Amino acid sequence: MLPVPGLKVVMPPGVVDNYNTGELVIEGKTKKVWHLKDNPGFVIVVSKDRITAGDGEKAHDLEGKAAISNQTNKKVFEFLNSLGLKTAYVKHTGEKSFIAKKCEMVPIEWVTRRLATGSFLKRHPGVPEGFRFSPPLQETFYKDDANHDPQWSDEQIVSAQFKLNGLTIRQDEVEIMRRTALVIFEVLEKAWAARDCALIDMKIEFGISSLGDILVADVIDSDSWRLWPSGDKRLMKDKQVYRNLSTVTEEDLDTVKRNFKWVADQLDHLIPPPSSRVIMITVYTIHI
Ligand SMILES: Nc1ncnc2c1ncn2[C@@H]1O[C@H](COP(=O)(O)OP(=O)(O)O)[C@@H](O)[C@H]1O
Ligand SMILES: [Mg+2]
Repeated sequence: MLPVPGLKVVMPPGVVDNYNTGELVIEGKTKKVWHLKDNPGFVIVVSKDRITAGDGEKAHDLEGKAAISNQTNKKVFEFLNSLGLKTAYVKHTGEKSFIAKKCEMVPIEWVTRRLATGSFLKRHPGVPEGFRFSPPLQETFYKDDANHDPQWSDEQIVSAQFKLNGLTIRQDEVEIMRRTALVIFEVLEKAWAARDCALIDMKIEFGISSLGDILVADVIDSDSWRLWPSGDKRLMKDKQVYRNLSTVTEEDLDTVKRNFKWVADQLDHLIPPPSSRVIMITVYTIHI
């Protein structure tokens, strides 16, 4: 059916993009995640036209943002899947939605940084903005809005004894997630460099599938990274533009949306030729 301009299609309850939804798994600041009635083990992730910052303290409705975010996420995850990385992303289903493997989420944000900026500078006084980490610096933060996502060490993660879909998160699992986060940062950094954009830092999340696999999950969109065209901070195209606003006008929101759209469009050029593939080598630790 062709969309009729100005006509809003209202789905019957329990249906998203022609998929029958069951229970709501979770609603967060920017997404709703629904069980799929006919496909247990899978969820449909639906983005909201909402932009938030500062652990949700600042928030605005932004029409069109969900669709742009969903496009960005689609292109990034299809790219990662094409490289053979294990992700929860399955397929694009609609303007604002995609299907993913249902995960029990590891409540940790995995941050990888090439250049020092933002919160890193506050936590490390004396380090100048733009300090280059080689190899990239990796940090972990416990997802806890009420306490502003405190930074956690490996010891804290392991001591929490997260048991997710039967898998206990121990040091080996932490190592796998850290290495995967680094690989993802490096492939995306290279891909963006080919568009003359510097990937400054990024955040990803992992989930554990019903089979106990560690998967890159959640979404990767303009909220997940800092991106500076030509390496120039003044040209930033990511959500930092929104974070930096003290008052937010309609015009500001429009600029933020235009930046996000630009990023989504650029991603069309990121897909590597079939010959360039990443090989992931799993390191097994033998306990004696
Ligand atoms: N594949 C998945 N399976 C289960 N939960 C998921 C999946 N992908 C994302 N989630 C969870 O969906 C929730 C909603 O996302 P979001 O709106 O970004 O929440 P938050 O405000 O906590 O960041 C998050 O808690 C996220 O961990
Ligand atoms: Mg989130």
